Amino acid sequence: VTVGLYINISKLFNPEMLRGVVRTTKTVKTYRTNALPTESSVFGALPRNAIRNDYCRFAAQTQTEKQNARILFSFLDVLNGIYEKHLPGHYKRDKDLVAEQVIGDFMLKERQPYSTVNVNVNHAIKYHRDSGNFKGNMSNVLVLKEGLKGGELVFPEYGFALSQNDCWLSIFDGQGEIHGVMPIFDNGTRRKPYRASIVYYTLEQLKHCYPYKQEIERLKVVSTERAEKRAAGINPSQQLKK
Ligand SMILES: [Fe+2]
Repeated sequence: VTVGLYINISKLFNPEMLRGVVRTTKTVKTYRTNALPTESSVFGALPRNAIRNDYCRFAAQTQTEKQNARILFSFLDVLNGIYEKHLPGHYKRDKDLVAEQVIGDFMLKERQPYSTVNVNVNHAIKYHRDSGNFKGNMSNVLVLKEGLKGGELVFPEYGFALSQNDCWLSIFDGQGEIHGVMPIFDNGTRRKPYRASIVYYTLEQLKHCYPYKQEIERLKVVSTERAEKRAAGINPSQQLKK
């Protein structure tokens, strides 16, 4: 049984373009439970967030960093081809599930199972399982790394690790298998060392999205309702406190 894939992509795709993305993208520090703070930027589709952005939309950087987005999305055909060729069963399952449940407006490319891309820079990650993706879907992680040692991807329950050197793509069940990334150290060969993991995935919550135009309509209705309730003195958060 094939359970995953680990492959060098440097002969299939020019990594220099992707290195440019890593150098220029504006990362944001995020804090998640059970993980160290991470520096990352997000491109592509995001689901509704009731508190801050109550509509399905595209991450701001998809617009503000158009060239970076184009380069990140241009790797999709390579990724898709590799995934389909080497893990056809998993690929078909991911693709069919996502196609069935997510509106095409929110997919990065037709007939491919990805909606969103993260560029994570320079972080070790404690042992964890991925969450938020469609259940059973594989995690697709491309690593770019120069001037650093360490950063191996460890699967503690199996007692092995992937070195995750420069230009290596791993496809594995990140939600099923516990994994973590070892600390990284400067090896002294580069002025600006870096390790980036570029992750392609689809968030399960996107299954609730309407077509984009309807999302905007819905947002107007929801915002109006909330404004009217506030105006009438009904504050939902105060009601909860009573
Ligand atoms: Fe992970």
